[in-house]
Amino acid sequence: MAAMSYQDLEVLYTRQQIAERVAELGAQIAMDLKGERLVMVGVLKGAAVFLSDLARVIPADTTFDFVAVSSYGKGSRSSGAVKLIKDLDAPIEGKNVLIVEDILDTGLTLSYLRKLLLQQRPKTLRVVALLDKPSRRIERIDADYVGFSIPNQFVVGYGMDYGEHYRNLPDICLMTAGHPE
Ligand code: IMP
Ligand code: MG
Repeated sequence: MAAMSYQDLEVLYTRQQIAERVAELGAQIAMDLKGERLVMVGVLKGAAVFLSDLARVIPADTTFDFVAVSSYGKGSRSSGAVKLIKDLDAPIEGKNVLIVEDILDTGLTLSYLRKLLLQQRPKTLRVVALLDKPSRRIERIDADYVGFSIPNQFVVGYGMDYGEHYRNLPDICLMTAGHPE
């Protein structure tokens, strides 16, 4: 793979557009928090870049935690089985928790995570997804906060990957050739 090549990629959202939307999300999240503390739970690895930008525009006492999940049969034909690879480091009982995800796609990952984290009885549990692909939904779940709603297109960059590549691209890009699905 060529280094940082935008070949076969088309910019969907520029870093400027992303920054503006992330700032809006941060303001909205902070308003709903009403001055209380927050635990941001990032879903590895895709949400890492989004979480780091979002955290810095939320003016609240905030801690980070991360979970990792794997799903079987990725792509257009997911088997629906989601497995936890890395659990939370610290208990979240009685806390204001925000799950931070890159893309809400079939909804299988987030509905699994929501159920799992709710078992710990957080004070509040909200979900922010940078991107939402509503047309792909299998599980009925909505994010409390959505950056951009997009059609069924495969995107990379700003944390999101194709075969672990492209996560470090500063813009959100469409794969225009060799569509993986
Ligand atoms: P789902 O909602 O359980 O189907 O899973 C969503 C996850 O699938 C996201 O967190 C991404 O890791 C991955 N994913 C879905 N669509 C895309 C895409 O367009 N590009 C990169 N990863 C994607
Ligand atoms: Mg992900």
